[in-house]
Order: sequence, then C-alpha cells, then structure tokens
Amino acid sequence: MASTTALCFDMYGTLCDTSSVTRRLGEVLDLSGVLTDAIDGTWRRKQLQYSYQAAQMNAYEPFWEITAKALDYALAEYGLDPDDDARERIRAAYDHLSPYPDAARTLERLGDAGYTVTVLSNGNPEMLARLADNAGLTPHLDDVISADEVTTFKPDPAVYENAARRIGADIGACRLVSANAWDVAGAGNAGMDVAWVNRRRDPPETIGPAPETEVGALAELPGVLAAD
Ligand code: LAC
Repeated sequence: MASTTALCFDMYGTLCDTSSVTRRLGEVLDLSGVLTDAIDGTWRRKQLQYSYQAAQMNAYEPFWEITAKALDYALAEYGLDPDDDARERIRAAYDHLSPYPDAARTLERLGDAGYTVTVLSNGNPEMLARLADNAGLTPHLDDVISADEVTTFKPDPAVYENAARRIGADIGACRLVSANAWDVAGAGNAGMDVAWVNRRRDPPETIGPAPETEVGALAELPGVLAAD
C-alpha cells in the first residue's frame, strides 16, 4: 500500500469535543449537568443517525440543518420547547466547540513533518470554517474538505474518494484520522489508510476493516507515523 502523504482529520469528536455543547445547554436552558449530558448524548446520536438516514434516503441536507433537527428531537425527548432564538443559541455552540488540547500542536507537527494536513468532515463548509477559525486550527490546515461537496455523508465511500481527488493523491496515500470508529471503518472500506484515536479504549467495530493504527491521543500520532 502507498505510504501516507496526506492526513485527513475528522472534525467533530476528533479535533473538537462535541460534549462541550453541554455548557451552552446549561446556560440557555438553566438545567443541571446530568440533564445537559443526557440531552447532549441524544443530540449527537440523532445527529449521526440523521446523517446516515439522509444519505441512504437520498435526502441530503447540510450538516448544519441535520444538527438543528437532531437538537429539536433531543429537546422534545426531554419535554423541552425553548423558542427559536434559544434553539439558535444552543446550535451556535457547534461554532465554538472546545478543541482537544493537543489538536493544534499535533496538526502543526505533522505539517512540519511534510504531510498534507486537511480536515475531512460531514460538516458543511461554512460551519467547518467557523469552527476551525474559532478553535485556532485554520493556520495549521492545508485544506478543509466537506462531505457537502458530494451531497452525501460518511461512511459513503464517495466522501473519502472525493477527498483523495481534492488532495490530488492516490486514496491509499491518504490516511483518515478519527475518534469515530464507524468513520475509520468507512475510510478503510473506501481504500484509505486510517488511524483510530481511541481515547476511551472502546472495542473496535465489527464491520469494515480493522484499524491498523490506533492511538490513545492525537499527540501520539506524529511518533507513531514516524515509526511506520
Ligand atoms: C465529522 C463527524 C461525523 O466531523 O464527526 O464528520
């Protein structure tokens, strides 16, 4: 297999922590931490479920809209019905997710090591640009590649194939880096190399190829790739 020349980083859950929306949920809805954690859990699960459904139903809409619909479901599940302004303020937390502490430095180290460093995400370009800027990641990225370009979502092979085209590299020379094991399986299935950022030491998925590289934190990646 070609050696890796380009690294494609998943955004939500890999470079930035989606659970950081709980602070905004608590502020806007004046709720306790236990309830905001539960609402956040449903919100993220539904966000991903709706992305899979939209892709399979050939009913694509931008991830920003998917995120709003998933939030509406999560709020309804807990009997909450805030007004539109409150919902917008909660959704806007996705523009201000906390980057993982080692994200920017790891991207910088890998760029310095000569890799092409991109984001590859379900997020639509506008929301990705806002978050990459706010999280201080933009200066360390060569490109930001969105599934929106092929109007479908991960793990559709088209998302990963488009990224290789955008980068101008053989798909086997591109390595997806993700904390989402299902994303890793999808990228491997499409022919990318992969690196699974398994912070919680979860068991691997049992569908799709097993990840050949696994790290416990982004910061481990430069050393692991150098030793490859
Ligand atoms: C992304 C989500 C799926 O950034 O984590 O693509």
